[in-house]
Amino acid sequence: MAKLTVNGEAIDYRIDPTTPLLWALRDQSNLTGTKYGCDDRSCGACTVIVDGQAVRSCAVPVGDLEGARVTTIEGLGANGHHPAQQAWLAEQATMCGFCEPGFIMAIAAAMDGGSGAITNQCACGALPRIKRVIARALAARPAEPGNSSQFSHGSSAGAQESRE
Ligand code: FES
Ligand code: FES
Repeated sequence: MAKLTVNGEAIDYRIDPTTPLLWALRDQSNLTGTKYGCDDRSCGACTVIVDGQAVRSCAVPVGDLEGARVTTIEGLGANGHHPAQQAWLAEQATMCGFCEPGFIMAIAAAMDGGSGAITNQCACGALPRIKRVIARALAARPAEPGNSSQFSHGSSAGAQESRE
């Protein structure tokens, strides 16, 4: 069991507490915008925001999140109007779209002051566009000390980038 607030709604997950948050969201809450993309915690397709930080939901047991506030892509912005979503649209970054929710959640967390680099991966070769999304989104933030663009990616994403 674990009591969380998900997209503003209090939810009592009466499931095995070792269940990854990803599957609680998808199977118990039908929030299927959060994707499962790898088996080694590398892709970031499952990224959600937990208490202001981007988190790989496949890697966190729901039982460790008692009292946490979780935001998924479904709860991020009214009708897709979060600045991270708008930046994505402006750069026309979508190819297959599978990585999109995770990237947008990671970007949104960075825009709101979350710590850590954006290490999500894209298997389609959209990374150059996604890097422009990140630059656009972070440039739109209010100026604050410590607000600097944070981006890194794995070697597979880098290989995709070099082909576009
Ligand atoms: S599904 Fe979580 S990091 Fe890939
Ligand atoms: S657009 Fe297909 S995985 Fe990124």
